[in-house]
Amino acid sequence: MINFPHDFLCGAATSAHQVEGDNIHNDWWAAEQKGVLKEASGCACRHYELYSQDFAIAQELSHNCHRFSIEWSRVEPKEGIFDTAAIEHYRKVIKDLRSRGIEPIVTLFHFTNPAWFAQKGGWVKFKLKKYFLRFVEKIVKEYAHEVKFWITINEPLVYSSHSYLLGAWPPKKCSLFQTAKVTLNLAQAHIKAYHIIHKIYQDGSLAKPYVSIAANLQAFEICQKSVKNRVAFYLRHKLYNLYFIEQLLHKRTLDYIGINYYGRNLVHVEDWSLRSLLLATCKYNHHPLRKNSLGWDIYPEGLYKLLLSFKKYHLPIMITENGICTHDDDLRWDYIREHLLQMHKAMQEEVKVIGYIYWSLIDNFEWDKGFTPRFGLVDVDYRSQKRIIRQSARKLAEVFKTKII
Ligand code: BGC
Repeated sequence: MINFPHDFLCGAATSAHQVEGDNIHNDWWAAEQKGVLKEASGCACRHYELYSQDFAIAQELSHNCHRFSIEWSRVEPKEGIFDTAAIEHYRKVIKDLRSRGIEPIVTLFHFTNPAWFAQKGGWVKFKLKKYFLRFVEKIVKEYAHEVKFWITINEPLVYSSHSYLLGAWPPKKCSLFQTAKVTLNLAQAHIKAYHIIHKIYQDGSLAKPYVSIAANLQAFEICQKSVKNRVAFYLRHKLYNLYFIEQLLHKRTLDYIGINYYGRNLVHVEDWSLRSLLLATCKYNHHPLRKNSLGWDIYPEGLYKLLLSFKKYHLPIMITENGICTHDDDLRWDYIREHLLQMHKAMQEEVKVIGYIYWSLIDNFEWDKGFTPRFGLVDVDYRSQKRIIRQSARKLAEVFKTKII
């Protein structure tokens, strides 16, 4: 039998554009209207209206925290014009969570930008981060009394690579130089945002907040032993898993480490090109593992290994995302259970994990993959907007309630 601490944070996550619907002022919406993406987000899960109903489900499922993002393009739909109705909306969201005994964990950037910010050049321009920082300051001043946990930026490297290297997400660029610039700009933005947030709490004589990013970690494994594969493994682990976090640690701007973990990346490099070293994975299904519906390898042990490798940083760790898209709900439960067990194993070896957040509370808009992948603890019928709680969610609720697995 396994026991989690009583104050352990247990919940699920969403992000604004993926669930709210009608985010008409952001760059994703603009790209969707141009038809350059597989599907348009449209009204998504209508969570902007139905949030309270969705939080009632989270409460019923014994969640004691909830991670969500505030949509910058709603708060500042035009440059310098802040929408008071949107600000009041998110205040209600936070209060609704609190009234249910659910701790809000607030993300400030989760892949979408106001269209005006993107038109000015977006994250590729260093000087534009002042606009993001102004938004951060505004938001944190509004909600500091109600929020303890902040995530400035979700998966900086996933954003910079998908938007500026792989050409998959707006603005659909393919430039290593721009990717590096955006990544650096995001790191600088976090560092500045960290100080802004802390100053607001200090000026208001409030208890110190907990500020971090949500870093996407992958369990890199070598397919076949070769020099190329070893070099690629080393490069990827350093570059994708450690480099960004270590920059922020060096500046002492992480109060905890937020980790998003999904699975394994099986390194299989065929030539010495940089692209291959950084991106190529095994295409032959060597060392086969169970997969999610997008074909990603399920590898719970990877979470354990990564958590242990983060022990040296001596900071609390929050699993800010872990989840599976599948139509097989038994597999979803196996996935969750096995990851909880691996996380617990790491905790027994003195890794200080303070929370586990499943991705996602409800099925949602999976970016360039559209609505087909089903990550939710709760099934969403997009035609009727009906929510149906999955069995895996009930099983997880039991663990959240008893803190025993
Ligand atoms: C992101 C989410 C996304 C999920 C599943 C994470 O990379 O933060 O927005 O839906 O993984 O792909």
